[in-house]
Amino acid sequence: MIHMKFLTRSLLAFSLAIGPGHAEPITAANALIAKHQGRSVTADNWMISAANPLAVQAGADVLARGGSAADAMIAAQAVLGLVEPQSSGLGGGAFLVWYDAASGDLTTLDGRETAPLAATPRLFQDKDGKPLSFFEAVVGGRSVGVPATPLLMEEAHKRWGKLAWAGLLEPARKLAADGFEVSKRMAKSVAWDAARLAIAPDTAAYFLPEGAAVQAGDLLKNPAYAETLEDMAQNGASIFYSGPLAEAIVSRVQNAANPGVLDMVDLAIYRIKERPPICVDYHGNQVCGMGPPSSGALTVGQILKLVEPYDLASLGADDPQSWRLIGDASRLAFKDRGRYMADSDYVPVPVQGLLDDGYMAERSALLDRDTALPKVTAGTPEYDHAALWGDDMSIELPSTSHISIVDSFGNALSMTTTIENIFGSRLMVGGFLLNNELTDFSFSSHRNGHPIANRVEPGKRPRSSMSPTIVLRDGKPILVIGSPGGSRIIGFVAQTIIAHLDWGMDIQAAISMPRLVNRSGTYEVEAGDFGTVMAPELEAIGFEVKLKKITSGLHGIAIGDGLKGGADPRREGIVLGD
Ligand code: GLY
Repeated sequence: MIHMKFLTRSLLAFSLAIGPGHAEPITAANALIAKHQGRSVTADNWMISAANPLAVQAGADVLARGGSAADAMIAAQAVLGLVEPQSSGLGGGAFLVWYDAASGDLTTLDGRETAPLAATPRLFQDKDGKPLSFFEAVVGGRSVGVPATPLLMEEAHKRWGKLAWAGLLEPARKLAADGFEVSKRMAKSVAWDAARLAIAPDTAAYFLPEGAAVQAGDLLKNPAYAETLEDMAQNGASIFYSGPLAEAIVSRVQNAANPGVLDMVDLAIYRIKERPPICVDYHGNQVCGMGPPSSGALTVGQILKLVEPYDLASLGADDPQSWRLIGDASRLAFKDRGRYMADSDYVPVPVQGLLDDGYMAERSALLDRDTALPKVTAGTPEYDHAALWGDDMSIELPSTSHISIVDSFGNALSMTTTIENIFGSRLMVGGFLLNNELTDFSFSSHRNGHPIANRVEPGKRPRSSMSPTIVLRDGKPILVIGSPGGSRIIGFVAQTIIAHLDWGMDIQAAISMPRLVNRSGTYEVEAGDFGTVMAPELEAIGFEVKLKKITSGLHGIAIGDGLKGGADPRREGIVLGD
């Protein structure tokens, strides 16, 4: 019998004090993290939640000046690329979900990196066709896709910006030129990755000056990044796609120790794509996010649809049956993800079939039992194409960053942004790191004689798990949420939506609560009091369970009677609002 009171107490320990989070000048990042972290913040007009206080401050200043959520994102992203370089930046890609208060429209923009035109399905295989090990593939030029974040920032500004472009990049430029305080998390990441950062001389010179890793509290200057931002302020994002900076990117990739095939033409033809949002109805709310090439909204959507017929609200967060339902729903959804989801410009993803009411009801009925499903396989959604795909074999490790913003006009922005692995490809150009996003493709192109939907192809976008989400009720946003964490992102986001909507948790409590994630294998349970009690319960009903450290990085804003924000205490994010 589970110890209900104990569990309730340990869950409540994650509910934190609520207070105002007004913008204030930030000089010492680490002190501000300590001051703001883990507090639920309330506001009336605008709010921003992101992964580092310097970035949040830059975005908050823009919002306080009457900027839009898109303006604030640009300022925050430019700073994140400097102060959280291990997670996202100008050399990476992002997905953006936008709710427009004036029109009521929801827009999703795909700023995903593309594979070079010269890439083949064997990009990550050795001469005998054997898949490379993950880090053999990641470090160097081979894994670098076309950087997309700069063009996404510019596209968002063209569509929704209110303040002048150049001014939005100025806080980051100034921090890069004058120096910023290295955060504890950045310092820890550098120390952890020092051997790989040492591979490229200019990367080593920046992160490991004179051979020693930068330390928390150091003042770090990045003049090259300041110069890139100055150029970007004057000439726009085009500097990344033609001209000297673009040539430097291509040269760095082609001449790296593990060279890649990225070329000028790949940069020149890159485009941001507007895609149809993927929305599912969940207990009368519309949960909306990014469709292919992200698997995010489809898989989060499937998990929610699969548990919807069961009364999670009554069961509550303490009952192992809630976690059985969520865990097995995730296992089913991840099997479909592995079989069917990839860049829909290249493979016919059965988007409607995967969320079809009849199909979801049929799959959900499998959960009508008391114990874990003994075996889980991909389903057979209605399909308009005869092809059969092999199950995916991508290697996905946690990294990435998420920004949630609501502006004073009522617009909402949810953007998950990445350079993929920690410090991406480890190659630096213009003061920023180049992504290793191409390792989000499956290294194998076929399985059991069937092609894998997410195999490498020229110009294709690798499948992502990023799940920037906006939840609407009666056409108005009620929740802006997302997280880093590789393929665990999907579970983090689905769990937080359930915790907030079904279990009525305050957004900060929903973000802080223990994480339980099942990606169709071992049930990963966050180590701690709650996990220690829940893990044997889940084992007893048939799951293989592993207690471990799980580092979600959720940033969310609940919108109702005012704004309430939460930032994940497992990282360094804070919330500011007014
Ligand atoms: N590279 C992380 C993701 O796109 O899912």
